[in-house]
Amino acid sequence: MRVLLTGGTGYIGSHTAVELLAAGHDVVLLDNLANSSARAVSAIRKVSGREVSFIRGDIRDGNSLDGVFQTHAVDAVIHLAALKAVGESVAKPDAYNDTNVTGSRRLVERMAAHGVTTLVFSSTAAVYGDPASTPITEACPASPQSPYARTKREVEELLRDLHRADPRWRISILRYFNAVGAHPSGQLGEDPRGVPDNLLPYIAQVAAGRRERLDVFGDGYPTRDGTGVRDYLHVVDLARGHLAALDYIRRSPGVALHNLGTGRGHTVLEVLHAFEAVCERTIPYRITARRPGDVAVSCADVSRAREELGWTATHDLQKICEDLWLWQSSHPDGYGDDHSPTSTLGVSGNDSASSQRAKRMPSS
Ligand code: NAD
Ligand code: UD1
Repeated sequence: MRVLLTGGTGYIGSHTAVELLAAGHDVVLLDNLANSSARAVSAIRKVSGREVSFIRGDIRDGNSLDGVFQTHAVDAVIHLAALKAVGESVAKPDAYNDTNVTGSRRLVERMAAHGVTTLVFSSTAAVYGDPASTPITEACPASPQSPYARTKREVEELLRDLHRADPRWRISILRYFNAVGAHPSGQLGEDPRGVPDNLLPYIAQVAAGRRERLDVFGDGYPTRDGTGVRDYLHVVDLARGHLAALDYIRRSPGVALHNLGTGRGHTVLEVLHAFEAVCERTIPYRITARRPGDVAVSCADVSRAREELGWTATHDLQKICEDLWLWQSSHPDGYGDDHSPTSTLGVSGNDSASSQRAKRMPSS
């Protein structure tokens, strides 16, 4: 298959590209580089040893999307492009609606116009909000608590409506739990801008000496050691989940919904100590107040993904820490300074026409 990845130079997109290429698929990346580096394209080429097309463009721009579908015979789309910072979404709900909802609407509209009706959508465990019980099954009612989570929920509903109106659509909705770690090659990883919001990148930067200490957000939760429990999923396992989902919807038309997690939870302190063991240094921390909006425990029931997709996570917390530490220590500044909205670093060959087109668009 030829698979288009929106958000393809991002953290999860770049790892998914590598897994698709390894499985023999062709890959086209579309990204406006709002939160990623064009250097990820070269890293994908290097790790996979294969060519990949990159188009710098915006999912909200119909002309850009038409250009992609006209130039590349796309069989399926994995739609990862989104804004994803929960805190920022509270401050900028309009921006989140615009990119996540309007962008998704534009994408499926242009897909339909070009006869492409196979789609995997990146949703999130955040749509469950504060669940009544864990582990969380797909039957657990959605109760999104942030503008970010509400945009994802809205797109899930939009996709169900789309299928009701036109049953040719084959749609997989994947609700990811906490994606963490990096590629075992040390060449691909998460490249957060500024102060990381999430636990693992923060710990890695403390270990590397970039930050003084970790603030542990509360130790009074009803958990093993009082700190929050999450289901941390290695990004390579998550990437492989997309291949399993694609395979599933090619066999089973309709709208599928799957949690992707490990089914196991770890506390903040367990993660911290696992990382200390891997990097062989002490990671200073202090206990601070709870972060508003945090839940005590978020852990996936992964039986449906195991039974229907034949997919399970294979990497444990130690492997997550090892791969993240390799990435952090070999790339202390991530992909480097290439976060400028006008940079085209790493873009080459058949990408140039599309990047010229994209350069004329307003930046997001
Ligand atoms: P990311 O920010 O690294 O990747 C998203 C990519 O989308 C970025 O490369 C960004 O430049 C691009 N993008 C943003 N707006 C765009 C637009 N208008 N047009 C084209 N490209 C655009 O984030 P990620 O962690 O790789 O997340 C990928 C997807 O998975 C997102 O949809 C996110 O909501 C979802 N998700 C992530 C996690 C997680 O733990 N990281 C958990 C649940 C769901
Ligand atoms: C957050 C998002 C979720 C998103 C996920 C992506 C919220 C409410 N949810 O999940 O939508 O899919 O990131 O990775 O923001 N912690 C600390 N100190 C820190 C950072 C985190 O103690 O500096 C704790 C948190 O309180 C939590 C755990 O570590 O218990 C994990 O936090 P984080 O990595 O931010 O992920 P989530 O909050 O689960």
